[in-house]
Amino acid sequence: MQATIEGLVLTGSGISHAHGEVYELLGLDVIYDINSLKIYSTRRAKIRSISSGIHIHAYYGAIDRLITKGFVSDYGHDMPLEMVDLMGNKVIVTFMGREKANRIAIVTSGGDAPGMNSAIKSIIRTGIKWGASVYGVYKGYGGLINDNIRKLGWDTETYSSSQGGTVLLSARSKRFMEKEGRKQATLNLVRKRINCMVVLGGDGSLDGALRFKKEFREHFRTLISEGKISNEELRKIRSSTARGSSSGTSDRETTTTNGGYSDFYGRAECYKANPTVYHDLNPSGGELEGEDYGPSGVESEPIDVASLKDEDIEQYIYDLKVVGIPATIDNDIYGAAESLGEDTAIHRVIEAIDHLMSTMKSHSRAFVIEVMGRRCGWIALMSAIASAADYVLLPEAPAEWRTEMIDTLRTARKCGKPGVFVILSEGAVDRDGAPIVGDQVVEEISRAGIEVRLLKLGHIQRGGPTSARDRIYGTLLGIKAVEVMLSPLREPIMISIFRGEFKEIGLEEVIDKNKLIKRLQEDRKFDEVMSHRSNFFRLAHSYFRKSIVTEVSATKKGGEGCCDNTRERLGDKVHRVKCKACEKSRETGVEIEPGCPDTKIDDMGFVCRGKPRTAKRGASIGILQCGKRSSGMNTVLNAVVQYALITGAEPYYIPNGFEGLLGDQVTKARLYEFSSDANNGGSAIGVGDCRKVNIAMVQEKIEKFNLKSLIVIGGSDALPIIEKLKNANIVLIPASSFNNVPGMDMSIGVDTALNTILKVSDISKLTSFSCRNHVFVIEIGGEQCGYLSLMGGIAAGAFEVFIPERKYLISHLSETAHRLRVRFRERPRRGIVIFRNETTFCSMPTENFCKVLKTDSEGLFETSFSVLGELQQGANPSPTDRINATILGIKAVDLCYEGCGVGVVGFSKDTTEFTSIEDVLKDFDREHNRSKNPGWLEYSNICRSVE
Ligand code: F6P
Repeated sequence: MQATIEGLVLTGSGISHAHGEVYELLGLDVIYDINSLKIYSTRRAKIRSISSGIHIHAYYGAIDRLITKGFVSDYGHDMPLEMVDLMGNKVIVTFMGREKANRIAIVTSGGDAPGMNSAIKSIIRTGIKWGASVYGVYKGYGGLINDNIRKLGWDTETYSSSQGGTVLLSARSKRFMEKEGRKQATLNLVRKRINCMVVLGGDGSLDGALRFKKEFREHFRTLISEGKISNEELRKIRSSTARGSSSGTSDRETTTTNGGYSDFYGRAECYKANPTVYHDLNPSGGELEGEDYGPSGVESEPIDVASLKDEDIEQYIYDLKVVGIPATIDNDIYGAAESLGEDTAIHRVIEAIDHLMSTMKSHSRAFVIEVMGRRCGWIALMSAIASAADYVLLPEAPAEWRTEMIDTLRTARKCGKPGVFVILSEGAVDRDGAPIVGDQVVEEISRAGIEVRLLKLGHIQRGGPTSARDRIYGTLLGIKAVEVMLSPLREPIMISIFRGEFKEIGLEEVIDKNKLIKRLQEDRKFDEVMSHRSNFFRLAHSYFRKSIVTEVSATKKGGEGCCDNTRERLGDKVHRVKCKACEKSRETGVEIEPGCPDTKIDDMGFVCRGKPRTAKRGASIGILQCGKRSSGMNTVLNAVVQYALITGAEPYYIPNGFEGLLGDQVTKARLYEFSSDANNGGSAIGVGDCRKVNIAMVQEKIEKFNLKSLIVIGGSDALPIIEKLKNANIVLIPASSFNNVPGMDMSIGVDTALNTILKVSDISKLTSFSCRNHVFVIEIGGEQCGYLSLMGGIAAGAFEVFIPERKYLISHLSETAHRLRVRFRERPRRGIVIFRNETTFCSMPTENFCKVLKTDSEGLFETSFSVLGELQQGANPSPTDRINATILGIKAVDLCYEGCGVGVVGFSKDTTEFTSIEDVLKDFDREHNRSKNPGWLEYSNICRSVE
C-alpha cells in the first residue's frame, strides 16, 4: 500500500483560480494564496508522490470532469494520464481501480427496530472506508430472493439515523423459509460476488441467516452444475478467487489507510484507523459499477460450464461470512443483554405513562398498560422499574398474580399514592402457561372495587425518534460488524454490546438456546427460562420484586401502617398531629381516597406524614441531594424512601443538601411521599451548595441526629466531603450529567442529558440541511470531561468532536475546515454538526470558534452555533436513568444495612458494585475533576469513521 502525502505547497506568482482548477477537478482540496497554492489529499483523491511529477491517485469519475473542462480529450487518453499544470508541473494521474475485494450485503429483516438506521449508516461508511463495496438488500430476505439488492454509496440511505424503522425496509419472508427460496437468494448474491452479509433482526431473522449460511456452498454447487451461473459470471468469480485458495482459507491481506489525514492527536488512536483486511474474493475482473471504478484488472480464459467436473466446480465456490446484529424491541435474543431498538421502545412506553399520569391522578383510576414483547418481558419489566409501576405481569415469572396485584394496588391507594397502574407484557402467562390478557386483568381489578382502564400501546413502541443509546450502539455495532467481516472469520457470529462492552457469540449457539427457551416456556419451566435471560434481566427482576409494596411490607415490617398520618420533625422540635381520615379509615375499614384529604401543610411548612415506624433494623438513614441538578435524582430519592420504609428502616430526607443538614433540616419521610416526584427531572428537596461545606460540622450533625447512614445523591463535588466523614455508612450514588465520577460506568442523569443533546442536534442538522453549505457547531457542557460531547457526537453522527481529554492546536481547527471544504465541494447541502466541549481550545467562546473555522472556509461554508448550557441536563429522566436510579437507590439502602463504610455505588456492566472511597479517589483526577482513564475514551475517533 502506497503512502499518502497529506498536502503540498506549490509556489508561483499571480496565483489564480485557474492554477488550481485541475487539482480541484481531480478531487483534491485547494487553498489559494497570492503566491502559493496549497493542495491537500482527500477521501476522493490522494497525492501519492512528488518524485517524478505530482502523482495523484483519484476516483475514476474525475476523468469526466477533466474531459468536460477540456483538460483531456474524450477520444483516447493514455493510462496513467499525464498533464502539465499552469505552473509547469508534471501531473500524473492514476485511478482507483476495482480493488474493492469484499462485498458486504446488509439485510434488515422481521420487525423493524430503532437503531437499525445508525447501524446501516456505519456499515456503509466503515465498509467503504476500509475498501469494501456495500450493498443494501431491500425488504428483508424477500429482497435477496427478488434480487432487490442495490449498491450503496457513501451518502445513500444515511440521512435518517435519527428516525426509527429501517431505510432498507423490512418484511417477514415465507419464501426464504423454504430451501428453494434460499437457493434463489444464493444465486443473486453469487452473481454480485457478495461474500459478506450482515443481518439485523430478531430471533427468526438470525435463524434464517444461519440456515442460509449453512446451505450457501451446497446451493452454490448446485447452481453451477445446473448451469444457472453463466460462463461470464464464473470467469469473474475465478479471477476473483484466483489469488486465494479454492477453499477460501488462504486470505489475501491489505492494509487500508484512514484517508491520509495527519495523526490527529499526536498518537495513533483512530478506532481501527488502519485495519488489516482479509478477502477471499478479489473481483478485479468484475463489471464496471458506479463511477469510482477504473479499468479491468485480471483477465482470464472463458470457461466451458458444460464440461466442468465436480472437482472443478469446487474451485469457484467461496464462503459467505455472516454476522448477526440483534435488533428487536423485544430484546429476547439469547447471548445479547441488549438488542437495538429496546431502549427506544422503552422511551415510548415511559413517555406514554408520563402523559397518562395526569388523568390517572385526576380520576383516581387505575390503569393496565399493555406493552409489546411477544415471549419476553424485557420491555414490561424495564418500564415497570422505570415508572415505579405497582405491579408487572411477565412471561418469565408467573406468580399468584391476582392476589398479589390487588394487594399492591390497594396498599398504594390506601397509602395515598395518586396514580396506580399495572404493566402487562403481551406475552404474560399464568402458572399454567395460559396467556393473561388485558381484559382479564381489568376485570380482576374492577372486581376489587377499583375503577380501571386499559391502554394498549401497540406499534407506537417501534417508532419515533431513536434514543441516544440505540444510535450509539447502532453506530458501534456497525463498525464492529465490518471489522469482524473483514477479518478471517469462518463461523457465523452474533455481535452485541451492553454498557459499552462488546460481546461475540456463535450464531449456532444463539439459535439453539433460543429454541431451548421456547421449549422451556411451553413446558412451563419458568425458573429455567429465567436462568437463560441476561444477568441484567434477572437483577432488574429481583430489584422490582424488592420494590413492590404490599400490605405486609407497608405495615408489618414498618410497624404501624402508612396511613397513620402524623407529622413530625426530628431534632429539637417534634410536632404530632393525628390525621382524621386515617383514623376513621382504621375504625371503619373503609379505604381512604388517595392523597389523604386531611393532608395539610402547617404554618411551619410541614406536611402531614407517616408516624415513626418501629424499625426492625433500627436503621436511620439520611438522604440528601447535592451538587448540580441531574435528571434521575428524584427517582433515587423515591426508591430509597420506599425501600427503606418497607424494609423497616427510618429514612430522613434533608432538604438543600449539606447546607440543609447544617441547618438541622432533617425530616422523616413517609411511604409514597416522593412518588409524584420520581419522574420529574428536578430536585424535589433542593441540592444546596456543596462547595463551601464545613465538613467537621457535617460530621457533628450526623452524630447529633443519630444517622447510622447517609445516602448522598450527587456528583463529584461530594467526593471531597464524604472522603472525610466517618463513623457512619456514607454511600454516594453518582448523579451527574457529566459522568465524571469513577466507580460507575454511567452516572445518573447522563443518559437524559445525551437524549436532550440529541434533540438539539437533530434540530441543528435540519438547519444545516436546509441551507446550502452550513455547519452547525454545538457547545456541550461537561467542564473537563468529554463524555457528553463524545457520546453525543457519536449518536448525532457529528462530523467532528472536540473533547478536553485531548490537546488541540489551532491548526486542528484548520484541518477540520479543510475536511469541511472537501465535503461541501462534493455536495453543498449536508446536515453537518460539530460538537465541542465548552473547555476545549482554552474555553474560547463558540462564536469565536465558528469564526476561526469560517476563516479557513474559502467561502465554501457558513457557520452557526448554539450553546446548550444548563439546558442539557434535560427535563424528565430517561428510562435508563430511572432504571439505574431505582436499582442503585435500593442497593444503597441494602449497603447501609450491611455496614458498608464510605464509598460509591454504581454499575459495572451488568452488576452493581460498591467501591470504597479510597479506591474511587485513586481513579479520580482532582485537578480536572474527572476519571483518570475512562473506558469510553477508546471511542474517541469513532466520528471520523462515519463522518
Ligand atoms: O418482535 C417485535 C414485535 O414488535 C413484538 O413485540 C410483537 O409481538 C410483534 O413484533 C408484532 O409484529 P407485527 O409487526 O408483525 O404486528
